Amino acid sequence: MVAANILGIESSCDETAAAVVRSGKEIVSNVVFSQIATHQPYGGVVPELASRQHLRAIVPVVRKALADAGQTYQSVDALAVTQGPGLAGALLVGISYAKALAFALDKPLIAVNHLEGHIHAVLLEERQKGNRELNFPVLALVVSGGHTHLYLAEQRGETWSYQNIGHTRDDAAGEAFDKVAKLLGLGYPGGPIIDKLSVHGNPGAVKFPPSQIKHPDRKEKGKADEHQSRFDFSYSGIKTAVLRYVEVHRMQDSIASRRRELLAIPRPKLDDYISRCDRQTLDLVASFQRAMVEDLVGKTLAAARAYDAATLFVTGGVAANQELRQRFEKDAAMDGLPVYFPPRPLSTDNAAMIAAAAYPKFLAHDFAPMDFSAEAGMGLK
Ligand code: KG4
Ligand code: ZN
Repeated sequence: MVAANILGIESSCDETAAAVVRSGKEIVSNVVFSQIATHQPYGGVVPELASRQHLRAIVPVVRKALADAGQTYQSVDALAVTQGPGLAGALLVGISYAKALAFALDKPLIAVNHLEGHIHAVLLEERQKGNRELNFPVLALVVSGGHTHLYLAEQRGETWSYQNIGHTRDDAAGEAFDKVAKLLGLGYPGGPIIDKLSVHGNPGAVKFPPSQIKHPDRKEKGKADEHQSRFDFSYSGIKTAVLRYVEVHRMQDSIASRRRELLAIPRPKLDDYISRCDRQTLDLVASFQRAMVEDLVGKTLAAARAYDAATLFVTGGVAANQELRQRFEKDAAMDGLPVYFPPRPLSTDNAAMIAAAAYPKFLAHDFAPMDFSAEAGMGLK
């Protein structure tokens, strides 16, 4: 097998990232510049600001990734960049820079699907640990701010292929975490703070009805084999249920003062949040998280049984969630199903996963033409 140092670049959303990964299995450097502080005052990612921040950060971030790796622009074997899905303007910054570098250095350029990157974050971690045994089919849940997708993954030689067997019909799971945090005055991003606050509340206090999907997906109708089950998700209902709860229990005024007070603290600590949340709010947060975890774990394990999956991957920003990990580990063990997660820093967006996913394509000489462009809605096959 050919050894190769691949420089990966990721700019699909609100993280500007670059990393050098050796042969898909060893992280030599991994630099992530998060734009959270830029978007925080707006309670979510502002696409124009994201593009502008990527433009500012991309050159120093790449330079640092090379320096940390003891590499130079000339010494890396190939460049890899996220093609999509993501914000078009944000993706274009990474793609334009990667193209310019590849052209100037005369190096091969590999276009990577961001979702495939999240799946390869798990493989990268397992290879780093020396775990080379993997039983197929692999079922991968990619659960992040933009995606809640279930893929069956297969490997033939160096080529990976993916079959989508479920996705969200409306909000992604991470989006639900972010929207609920925003409406409770907890700021952005919502997942990490809801994760930390939930242990202080009673997860059984508020009952949310399970999400219901009544109609077949129009996009998939006719395409899917009738005999193949789909395992779709829906998270806009639970967000509305939290909003209703807030209205019925007249929590708006305390939420407004919490939002104001937290915005005035430059870097709020966990205690700053806890001291501004009453019992009712902590119980609501814990109950929301419990409902999300139960839905994600329940549907994923049902899909694993239906498709006879031998291995389960859980990846993407929401895979950093403590309760989600514990629940998956416990419930998958009852089904005798091994479950793998990336370490937390590789769960959220990073470029190491992009460089790792590029390695099989490097071996297969699957290089991108110089005229390829960003694909904001890119699917994974
Ligand atoms: O993978 P990622 O960094 O970006 C996308 O590709 O979307 O995921 C970011 C998402 C955000 O919605 C964030 O709230 C969520 O992941 N997230 C979490 C946690 N950490 C990040 N959600 C739940 N619990 C966490 N600990
Ligand atoms: Zn992502």
